[in-house]
Amino acid sequence: MTATLVTGIGELVTFDPAHSGPLGLVEDAAVLMVDGHIAWTGPASSAPNSDADAVIEVDGAAVIPGFVDSHTHLVFAGDRAAEFEARMAGQPYTAGGIRSTVAATRTATDDALRSRLAGFVAELRTQGTTTFEVKSGYGLTVADEERLLRLAREVTDETTFLGAHVVPDEFADDSDAYTDLVTGPMLDACAPYARWIDVFCETGAFTVEQARRILTAGAARGLGVRLHAAQLGPGDGVALAVELDAASVDHCTYLSDDDVERLAASDTVATLLPGVEFSTRHPYPSGRRLRDAGATIALASDCNPGSSFTSSMPFCIALAVRELGLTPAEALEAATRGGAAALRRDDVGHLRVGARADLVVLHAPTYVHLAYRPGVPLVARTLHA
Ligand code: NIG
Ligand code: FE
Repeated sequence: MTATLVTGIGELVTFDPAHSGPLGLVEDAAVLMVDGHIAWTGPASSAPNSDADAVIEVDGAAVIPGFVDSHTHLVFAGDRAAEFEARMAGQPYTAGGIRSTVAATRTATDDALRSRLAGFVAELRTQGTTTFEVKSGYGLTVADEERLLRLAREVTDETTFLGAHVVPDEFADDSDAYTDLVTGPMLDACAPYARWIDVFCETGAFTVEQARRILTAGAARGLGVRLHAAQLGPGDGVALAVELDAASVDHCTYLSDDDVERLAASDTVATLLPGVEFSTRHPYPSGRRLRDAGATIALASDCNPGSSFTSSMPFCIALAVRELGLTPAEALEAATRGGAAALRRDDVGHLRVGARADLVVLHAPTYVHLAYRPGVPLVARTLHA
């Protein structure tokens, strides 16, 4: 048994109802971690010091749960900086850009993809992310989707089969034949490496009916359901996600009032990805509207080379406060507990007793600095069970 006490915490966010307010705040706090789990939190003055083998003194810093980034696309090769530059000069974002990353990814070796992925994982950690999901979707052949998921599985258990990202060029004239491949041999090859199945349900990608077929086939194989929808325009994707009890529907940029009501009445989390609106110049979704209606919100990076090439959850929090209408506390909750809910996880995203000992020490006296000091490297240390 190894016990570590983190003490001298100026402000501790636990989300434990035993502590103060919705964030479960404790001032002048300490945390005892035993064998990778939270064993105790509370005022430093009553900490069980004698139980600790090691002590970490943080000198008044704020400590928060590690971020849960529930939506990334980190296994790819190539670069689309020129596409971003053109967008900033007025070109629209289209789903078709995905195909250029597919071409680069198909020709990359496993080792090249693995080492790029390792770099992204290091980036995530230094920015306070302790749990993250990774999707396939830049292979779009049976062998390539399988290998992307195999590589993703080397770094996280939260892997998502996204063979239905776009229809690849080889099937340009027959998206239904590609859908057959995805629900048949590709699903067979990928299911062993995936926890989730996802579809990009949007004009230029897959229709609601194709998405329904694919998600239903995945669910029949024991995969959990998640969906990209309402990113580029309104549609019936959110209704489909709720109908299928998806864990999460992601983007939610163009929501009708009915979509908001459906989400509020469901267990499907609305995952907002403001890095996308930053990088595509689409309008930001309203997090306020969803929260006020009673929907559960998650914030995630969507880190990918096309629509949102940031791995920074603090940046997403700053955008959520400035552009989505969330308070700093709501944005922090969406980036931790919300992400955990989007992955149907209860062991991460909070620091209640029994949770995984995933926490972040900030170079700041309060979590509010995550939005107040955008772009500043505020993560002093990431502790990961
Ligand atoms: O979540 N929307 C679909 N997929 C990604 C974008 C992928 C890309 O442009 O390469 C997203 O935004
Ligand atoms: Fe995405």
